Amino acid sequence: MCGIVGYVGPRPSQDILLAGLARLEYRGYDSAGVAVIDGEGALGMRKKAGKLAALRDSLSDAALADGTTGIGHTRWATHGGPTDENAHPHLADDDKLALIHNGIIENFSALRDELLADGVTFRSETDTEVAAALLGREYRSNGGDLQGAFRAVVNRLEGAFTLLAMHQDHPGLVVGARRNSPLVIGLGEGENFLGSDVAAFVEHTRKALAIGQDQIVAITPEAVTVTDFAGSPVEAEPFDVSWDAAAAEKGGWSSFMAKEVAEQPEAVANTLRGRIQGDQVVIPELDGLDDLFLGINRIIITACGTAAYSALVGKYAIEQWARVPVDVELAHEFRYRDPVIGDDTLVVSISQSGETMDTLMAVKYARERGARTLSICNTQGATIPRESDAVVYTHAGPEVAVASTKAFSAQITALLLLALHAGRVRGSMTDASVDVAELSALPEKIAQVLETENDHVSQLAGWMADTRSVLFLGRHVGYPIALEGALKLKEISYIHAEGFAAGELKHGPIALIEPGQPVFVLVPSPRHSALVHSKVVSNIQEIRARGARVIVVAEEGDAAVLPFADEVIRIPLAGPMFEPLLAVVPLQIFAMALATAKGLDVDQPRNLAKSVTVE
Ligand code: M6R
Repeated sequence: MCGIVGYVGPRPSQDILLAGLARLEYRGYDSAGVAVIDGEGALGMRKKAGKLAALRDSLSDAALADGTTGIGHTRWATHGGPTDENAHPHLADDDKLALIHNGIIENFSALRDELLADGVTFRSETDTEVAAALLGREYRSNGGDLQGAFRAVVNRLEGAFTLLAMHQDHPGLVVGARRNSPLVIGLGEGENFLGSDVAAFVEHTRKALAIGQDQIVAITPEAVTVTDFAGSPVEAEPFDVSWDAAAAEKGGWSSFMAKEVAEQPEAVANTLRGRIQGDQVVIPELDGLDDLFLGINRIIITACGTAAYSALVGKYAIEQWARVPVDVELAHEFRYRDPVIGDDTLVVSISQSGETMDTLMAVKYARERGARTLSICNTQGATIPRESDAVVYTHAGPEVAVASTKAFSAQITALLLLALHAGRVRGSMTDASVDVAELSALPEKIAQVLETENDHVSQLAGWMADTRSVLFLGRHVGYPIALEGALKLKEISYIHAEGFAAGELKHGPIALIEPGQPVFVLVPSPRHSALVHSKVVSNIQEIRARGARVIVVAEEGDAAVLPFADEVIRIPLAGPMFEPLLAVVPLQIFAMALATAKGLDVDQPRNLAKSVTVE
């Protein structure tokens, strides 16, 4: 939550900051602001409630256009509403110092009282202004040593934070720090960058440095210095960004979500690349780490939101192929009880951003209790992989729309790879060739669903624009897809939606069925299990008998569903573990088309931010 960008170099910083903020706006869009040390050496600042466009309009007088040192912020409100006053940057030291923040400063109330007693006045309701005021006071009392003052301040803060600050008496210097919130460094030629993620600067450089927890960075045009909170130098980890700026552009699509839905064949192909050898799955990143799978008797997969639904698919696959018990735990529930874990447990975390606070804290909690940790992540240089013993990157490319689509498909693909890899290592799979062939065929089959069902499903959504509630039913691996279909609809269409295990229907949810109630039913292939298929067909008959409008997602040629369905969406034949990757696509298209029919912003739905970096 909240996007942060910083720049020092020879070029005017305002446009660089605004372009960076545009790429980070997915992290929050309640307000935006920039501070720049202008050509006269004075610190200027503008901030506006609302989306970035409002800030852009306020900058049309070009007053800040020529400064070459600057910081910028896009906010998801936590402390204080989305107003101009609460927007970042916050100023101190007679408005000569500017500070921006991502995270929550948990001891801000005590610090605020201390500063109030010292005569400080506040202009906002934020925790951030407290850090700015503290920095201003420290700076004045230490004789103008910005880095020393910054170090003193971060050592007094509790909670999660990324902070950037600059002072007009130090043009060409931006200082930053991080604890449990993201910050990466972009290395340019005679210029340097800071960002919440590499998207902030990827159009200028693809050379980056990842910095660790509780570290401070100072950038000037010529140098980057990283220390710990005590001031001792530390080595930052260099990496090359594997995608270019064009990958994070809309590129002619109506929305990022439309683009990302369409990119799923490529995202899945990229997740598979280099991980299939003949008829076996071998994940090179896990080379030499067989013990992760041999020395355990249990796997816990932890994640939030869509990533947690991919985890549920992973549970089925890992248990089937690697024959080890798997529990799926929502990360925010996991660490607030006393789970039974130890060195015989492998905790797998899943996160597109690699920054979700709940998931990060679950990983740390697991490590502290001796569990081994493996992260499935889409974002290079992110915190969660750095906190884990091993990482499998999904390589789906940047996902900008708040609603996760291609990352979900890539996460399931990575979990299928992991299950087959673990099955081979544990000796529980004698022949994986059929499943490996199924994996390889996925990109083409997803492309086929996009090709054949896009118009049909979009038309269906258009007809249903006034619908007030939609239910989704699935069994086996169709159950997580029912949950995901409902989440997609809720988050971008603001329509009430629920996903249920079809078998649960008669235990309560069937009471919701009244004439005309739309219900999507994910029908598993009869070729995998005639029994499970027949159970789902019975469920369809039960809801149909009560007047439901039944929309079926079924494999090509499944005629048993025809007499009871109002609409049939077809997916290609696939093995049982692979159907989710095909069945989810029409549900994503449906949510997107319905939101569009209602005139909603599908990329930036209300109240949400893509990366939830506060608890
Ligand atoms: O970055 P992560 O994968 O850790 O994010 C987890 C969830 O916040 C995320 O999947 C969220 O549920 C999406 N908005 C769903 O579309």
